[in-house]
Amino acid sequence: MEDKIIPQHVGIIMDGNGRWAKKRGLPRNMGHKQGAAVFKKTISWCRELGVKCATFYAFSTENWKRPAEEVEGIMNLLRQYIKDIREAARENVRIIIIGDISRFAEDIQADLEEIQNDSCANDGFIVSIALNYGGRAELVKAMRELGELIAAGALVPDDITEELIDKRLYTSEMPPLDLVIRPSGEQRLSNFLIWQAAYAEFVFMDVLWPDFTKKDLEYALEQFASRNRRYGGI
Ligand code: IPE
Ligand code: IPE
Ligand code: MG
Repeated sequence: MEDKIIPQHVGIIMDGNGRWAKKRGLPRNMGHKQGAAVFKKTISWCRELGVKCATFYAFSTENWKRPAEEVEGIMNLLRQYIKDIREAARENVRIIIIGDISRFAEDIQADLEEIQNDSCANDGFIVSIALNYGGRAELVKAMRELGELIAAGALVPDDITEELIDKRLYTSEMPPLDLVIRPSGEQRLSNFLIWQAAYAEFVFMDVLWPDFTKKDLEYALEQFASRNRRYGGI
């Protein structure tokens, strides 16, 4: 078998939970529950298939617009999933949370901080979870930090380079984003890793996230392997 090109860093937009539930006449939160189970399995599949890092889009800065009941359901699910995330960390997996979790309940924040700290030396695989994440908010945060350095006289505007901005993003310790997978039939980024995706490949799939299988992941990786990434060259 010839060697396949495997993406180092895969971003997954876990979309379609609501429609999955609706199709079955279930409340939307049942879709989120099923989606969370697929999230857990996908971590293992990514690892088995040789990916080094996976970022999962779980909750966006825009998702607060949803009814309070749905947001609360997602938060409770997160509480349940902290156990699974901790379990994953035990298998030499590093957990990185991207996004601003300061708006989350204290107990969730404390647990997530602990998991990140406890797993920071693990080097078998990186699971990054986007929670209250927005690509624009991430860039605003980076720009404010640079602005403060300039105000303090520690930096001049000409010092700002792409590398310097990269270092201020949540993804600074991850390999470059190679592939973005979005199930559910939507073909947009919805504010996911907008800077990082500048040269990523995209695979959009019709499957709803709670129905996503290892075969679907394999299909996306095959698509990636067949692409010719030119980065503006020839
Ligand atoms: C993704 O599924 C989960 C979150 C955004 C939290 P959706 O809830 O967006 O599912 P659809 O798009 O309504 O089907
Ligand atoms: C993107 O899905 C966010 C997550 C999957 C967490 P949305 O369902 O929020 O995106 P839109 O509203 O269809 O763009
Ligand atoms: Mg959606």
